[in-house]
Amino acid sequence: MRPLNLLVLAAALLATSALAQTPEPASAPPDVPAAAPAPTVSPEAALIERGRYLAVASDCIACHTAPRGKPMAGGLAIASPVGEIIATNITPSKSHGIGNYSEAQFAAALRRGVRADGANLYPAMPYTAYAALNDADVHALYAYFMKGVAAVDTPTRETALPFPMNIRASMKVWNALFLKDQPLAPAPQRSAQWLRGRYLAEGPAHCSSCHTPRGFLMQEKTNLALSGAQVGPWYAPNITPHPTAGIGTWSQDELVAYLKSGRVEGRAQAAGSMAEAITHSFSKLTDEDLRAIAVYLKETPAIGPDSSTPPTLGTRFEQGKAGNALAQFRGRTLGADSPEEIRGARLFSASCASCHGYNGQGTRDGYYPSLFHNSATAGVNANNLIATILYGVERETAEGGHVFMPPFGDQHNALNKLSNEDVAALSNYLLKYYGNPDLKVKPEDVAVIRAGGPRSPLLLVARIGMGVGAVVVALLLLLGALMLLRRKRIDPENDWK
Ligand code: HEC
Ligand code: HEC
Ligand code: HEC
Repeated sequence: MRPLNLLVLAAALLATSALAQTPEPASAPPDVPAAAPAPTVSPEAALIERGRYLAVASDCIACHTAPRGKPMAGGLAIASPVGEIIATNITPSKSHGIGNYSEAQFAAALRRGVRADGANLYPAMPYTAYAALNDADVHALYAYFMKGVAAVDTPTRETALPFPMNIRASMKVWNALFLKDQPLAPAPQRSAQWLRGRYLAEGPAHCSSCHTPRGFLMQEKTNLALSGAQVGPWYAPNITPHPTAGIGTWSQDELVAYLKSGRVEGRAQAAGSMAEAITHSFSKLTDEDLRAIAVYLKETPAIGPDSSTPPTLGTRFEQGKAGNALAQFRGRTLGADSPEEIRGARLFSASCASCHGYNGQGTRDGYYPSLFHNSATAGVNANNLIATILYGVERETAEGGHVFMPPFGDQHNALNKLSNEDVAALSNYLLKYYGNPDLKVKPEDVAVIRAGGPRSPLLLVARIGMGVGAVVVALLLLLGALMLLRRKRIDPENDWK
């Protein structure tokens, strides 16, 4: 790198680390001596606490803890288009965790996706986002992981991806193409609140890793940042401030409330991976940090159809209306009675109406949400409606509440066992009367969501790519050999070799 670039980089580093400080816990003013009257917190304890807060903001636990497993002991299998990637044990265990990692090695894993042994990590570990973490925060995280997490001396299953994805070195090429291994660009004209929001949203909280569509090689399409993407069975919708395609109609308060509790009545509720992120991470952030994220998000580029053409249907938060309770109670719909529609209406009465109301209006306290004016029934696709029916909703809120809707796709539970045809009929019924009537669900669509979401052709591409690559390499070698021969023949200096 040229010295000028280095200078710019160093300046950027200084600027971002100065601007993006985590507020120190109020109980630990740095100038209070250790012997001062109680209650005081030692600088080390304050550092560990800061690291703990950052680990929460970064949601390390979501991936590095298996269901019912020990915190950070790994073992969770993360589905990727090319197979399962197992999150590793990142407790300070010296035998099976990261107990032998130096701070530099820890920083390399977090920001560059390189393990202590030099092997590359798969981007299932969101190092492309964590690359934005500043040195002070990496230092605090390291202190927390070494001293604030209990060591667990048990191994995790090895990741075994199929060829050629099992060649970790191939990630070097991916990184060269897609990893921006540097702090966020300085933006001196912006407020401290906006900068903090950007730092959190793009770095630790990694909103883009779910909400940004991915390209051919699973890289985030930065020109379409936050405009909506499928993550496994769930669809993470457009959260740019676009007035119709995004969340331009949400107030800052609503966004903060959603991140804190996972629901805004008459707009959306969080299930799936968003519910997990809220349970473990966002609901535990300070109000100032959530507000900073909201401030930043409201100012990201709006992405969606040209807003000069007025929308015909309104936003996904405004569609549908309360149904005719009596007609639906009888399992018949307002005029149409195709067999599929009657099937959908009957399933609704039998399985859903007890909580969401016979007219889909939900309960007055909002605990059971209305199914119209709801992003799950009027999004750009019906995937979240299908996924909600199959997998239910489970979430914990900042106030310690538990939000629960049972899953109806459980093949081992006779009571909640809906077939793909059932789910399609029910979805179409809900879409027609409560949501986006242009969407139609086929049993095959349900099968895809049931199987964990759409598959990507990446593995095939990689295999073909390897094949093509091998041919190209062979050709280059041949060419090189030919040139060498030619050189030898015409270069007199080579005669004695
Ligand atoms: C979205 C899921 C996800 C999140 C969030 C996540 N990780 Fe990871 N991490 C992984 C996976 C998967 C691997 C293993 C990847 C592999 O084997 O290539 C991994 C690997 C690692 C490793 C390498 C350990 C080793 O030697 O194998 C470290 C260190 C690490 N993560 C630390 C963290 C920290 C610290 C956080 C929070 C700041 C975090 N991770 C958040 C998924 C995640
Ligand atoms: C692990 C993946 C993941 C991460 C990380 C994530 N989201 Fe989400 N988000 C989702 C999914 C999936 C949904 C849809 C949930 C549903 O409707 O049940 C969603 C829904 C939302 C919604 C509601 C939109 C709507 O129309 O229903 C907002 C707002 C939102 N996310 C904001 C954020 C912000 C801000 C961040 C970062 C601070 C973030 N998300 C990080 C996966 C994620
Ligand atoms: C036992 C009560 C109960 C039953 C039965 C029930 N739900 Fe729900 N439903 C809930 C709760 C609770 C939520 C989540 C509210 C929240 O997130 O704040 C919810 C949320 C939803 C959402 C929004 C999910 C999202 O991610 O945005 C949809 C759509 C939905 N339910 C559809 C249905 C359908 C269809 C049925 C019938 C198959 C059904 N529900 C049956 C309680 C129930």
